[in-house]
Amino acid sequence: MQLSTMLVVPMLEQTVQIVSNERDTDSYFRLVLRAPQIAPLIQPGQFSHVRVPTLKDALLRRPFSIFQVAGDTFSILYKTIGKGTDALARLGPREELSVIAPLGHGFTVPKRGGETPLLVAGGYGMAAMYLLAQRSPQKGIVFVGGRRRVDILCEREFAALGWDVRVATEDGSHGEKGLVTQPLLAELRTPNSKFRTPKLFACGPTGMLKAVGKIAEDFNVPAELSMDEHMCCGVGVCLTCVIPAKVGNSWEYQRTCTEGPVFDSRDIVWETTP
Ligand SMILES: Cc1cc2nc3c(=O)[nH]c(=O)nc-3n(C[C@H](O)[C@H](O)[C@H](O)COP(=O)(O)OP(=O)(O)OC[C@H]3O[C@@H](n4cnc5c(N)ncnc54)[C@H](O)[C@@H]3O)c2cc1C
Ligand code: FES
Repeated sequence: MQLSTMLVVPMLEQTVQIVSNERDTDSYFRLVLRAPQIAPLIQPGQFSHVRVPTLKDALLRRPFSIFQVAGDTFSILYKTIGKGTDALARLGPREELSVIAPLGHGFTVPKRGGETPLLVAGGYGMAAMYLLAQRSPQKGIVFVGGRRRVDILCEREFAALGWDVRVATEDGSHGEKGLVTQPLLAELRTPNSKFRTPKLFACGPTGMLKAVGKIAEDFNVPAELSMDEHMCCGVGVCLTCVIPAKVGNSWEYQRTCTEGPVFDSRDIVWETTP
């Protein structure tokens, strides 16, 4: 079954105030927004579409996973990689911006006594995982990967939630040296692991998601993947964000902004996904 058929979510377009916008590590920032009407609606794995008011092409919004929710606020954890995120990083407390949120279909929150969640995140993919870890009554393992130590985000915050955190960096500057899929594979191959009947949840670069999808297939475990494609409208109109996904015995293009961003890995047609 498509995940999208299981969830129906409301969303709001609102002008909200910045509570804080502070550097986390290196080029990562945390933006906290006061949004009393949006915050209670948010489900893990959903995203916000943010208009950066000081940009010349301010009409184009930028999509960001919803990282944390606290009281009447929600936050995003973002990496500065271009003109939109650079401009966002220059905004300060009490400035206002327009957001549409919460958007998309998120992760299925694990049930107590059910499958053990194994979360896999690369870089800013951690942002999509925090709320899932916080709201899951069943604790598991978070596998965190990045190029360098500075790309490993929120390690202590996940540990504080009671999750087992396993880190891998490509340059070996923190945790195991290599890709995040290595410790995941090691765990799945461990006989008599205390983490039985696993289910994978992943967010990160497409290459990592594809590798996690393959691992899920090889080990015959279910997996939900957040497909963060380039987006324009964010609300299902422009078709910028489509990926091929299985429907019955065939496939069709599905919008990652509305049918996703989270898909069952078995539904993704990787051969034609860019
Ligand atoms: C559903 C979703 C959730 C996201 N969540 C987060 C998040 O939590 N934190 C975060 O830092 N970023 C997140 N992103 C990515 C974020 O939207 C982009 O980094 C941002 O839009 C870049 O804007 P910019 O103007 O700074 O960069 P631009 O100047 O527009 O682009 C700079 C470079 O980044 C590339 N780029 C832009 N968007 C993407 C993308 N979606 N995927 C891969 N490459 C891209 C461009 O091709 C270009 O090479 C998410 C994207 C999606 C679709
Ligand atoms: S971004 Fe416009 S349809 Fe998905």
